Amino acid sequence: MTKSKVRNGVIAALDVGTSKVCCFIALVEDDGLRVIGIGHQVSQGLRSGAVVDMEAAEASISAAVHAAEQMADQRIHDVYLGFSAGAPASRSVTVEVALNGHEIGDSDLRRALDQGRDRCEGDAREIVHTIPGSYAIDGNRGIHDPRGMYGERLGVKVHVITAAPGPMRNLKTCVARCHLGVAECVVSPYASGLASLVDDERELGATVIDIGGGTTGVAVFADGDAIHTDVVPVGGNHITNDIARGLSTPIDHAERMKALYGSALFSPSDERETIDVRLIGEDDEAGANPVPRSRLTGIIRPRMEEIFELVRARLEASGQAQAVAHRMVLTGGASQLQGVRELAARIFGKQVRLGRPGQIHGLAEATAGPAFSTCAGLLRYALGVRAEDSARAIGAGEGPDGRFGRIGQWLRESL
Ligand SMILES: Nc1ncnc2c1ncn2[C@@H]1O[C@H](COP(=O)(O)OP(=O)(O)OP(=O)(O)O)[C@@H](O)[C@H]1O
Ligand SMILES: [Mg+2]
Repeated sequence: MTKSKVRNGVIAALDVGTSKVCCFIALVEDDGLRVIGIGHQVSQGLRSGAVVDMEAAEASISAAVHAAEQMADQRIHDVYLGFSAGAPASRSVTVEVALNGHEIGDSDLRRALDQGRDRCEGDAREIVHTIPGSYAIDGNRGIHDPRGMYGERLGVKVHVITAAPGPMRNLKTCVARCHLGVAECVVSPYASGLASLVDDERELGATVIDIGGGTTGVAVFADGDAIHTDVVPVGGNHITNDIARGLSTPIDHAERMKALYGSALFSPSDERETIDVRLIGEDDEAGANPVPRSRLTGIIRPRMEEIFELVRARLEASGQAQAVAHRMVLTGGASQLQGVRELAARIFGKQVRLGRPGQIHGLAEATAGPAFSTCAGLLRYALGVRAEDSARAIGAGEGPDGRFGRIGQWLRESL
C-alpha cells in the first residue's frame, strides 16, 4: 500500500441485514473506490432488519468487521451504517426562505434545510436524512446549485427521512459495543439505489426495490437523488418459511429448494417436473417425497405478489413516487429468485431490470452480487461525502461525483 493511498483515506461500510452482516473497507483513490477488505457473516439476532438479540447481533457484527479488517490489514474506527429498522418513512416538505437580494451562500441552503427539519421535528421520530431536491429562486425552478446566484426568495422541496429512535439506538449500541463509531446512518434502500442505479437512472428517475431476507426496501430517485424511501417488513425469508410450512420440510431444505427450483412464475413444464422434498423429522433418503414443481411455484408466487402489491400500494399512497419513474431496478438477495423480474414488470407496469453494485474496484465476484448493493452503496455515499468535503476545502462548487457534489456534508444532516 503506498503512502498516497493512505493519505487519500479509508472508508468503511457496515450493512447489518436480516440474513447477513457485511463489512466493506475501501480506499478512496483518484479514480474512485478500491475495496481492500471484505467480511460477511450470517447474521444472528435480527428480525425484519431490527435487532432482537443484542449479544447475538454484536457477535455477528464483530465477526464480519474482524474479517474485513484482517483482509485489509488495518483497523477501522468508524463505519457508514445502513439501517432499515424503525419503519423509516419519507416526508416531503416545501420550504422558502427570504434572501433580501443578497448572493446565495451556504448559510441560506442551511437555513432552508433547517426549516424543513423543524417542520418534521417533534413527532417522536428521529430525523435520519434531510435531502434537498432542486431549488427555486423567485419561482424559477430546476436549479441544482443556487450558490452564487441572486434573488428575493429561495424555495426547495426537502425530503426528510425519519425513523423510530428505539431500533436505531439498539443497532448503534451493538456497533458501539464492537468499539466502532458511526460516521453516518444511511437508510438501506437509499444506499442500494446509489450502488445499483446508473447515473442516468438517478437523473431521469427510477425506483429501486431491494428484496432482502426480512425486509423489502424501496427508494425512488429523480433529479439525481432519492425523493422517497420506504421499507416493508417482508422479504425472501418469508418465502422460505412459507415453503417450509407448506411442504413440511426443514427451513434449510426449503431455502435450498427456493434457490435451485423456485420461481415466481409458472412454466408449462412445472406439472411434469418433480422435486424430492425431505420431510421434517425424516432423514435424507427415507423421507424424500416427490412433489410437482408447480406446488413450489404455487407457494412462492402469492407471497412474491403480496410483497410487490404491498410496495405498490405504499408507493401509490405516497403520491409523488409512482408517477416519476418508469424504470425499476430490483436488487437484494431475493431478487435472484427466478421469474421475479417478469412478475414485477407485470405488477408495476414498468420496465424492470436486475441490478447489482457497479463501478467499484476490488469487489470479488462473490460480493458483487445483488445482496451486496446496500453495503457497496454505503461506500458510494461515503465517497460522495468525501468528494464534497474536498471540493469545499479547495473552493470548488461541486465534487466529482455527480449530484453528490450538489450539497455539502454539513448539509446532509444526520444523527
Ligand atoms: N439464488 C437465490 N434465489 C432466491 N433467493 C435467494 C437467492 N439467494 C439469496 N436469496 C434470498 O435472499 C435473501 C437474503 O437477501 P439479502 O442478503 O439481500 O438480505 P439482507 O440484506 O441480509 O436482509 P434485509 O435487507 O432484509 O435486512 C434470503 O431470503 C435468501 O433466501
Ligand atoms: Mg439488505
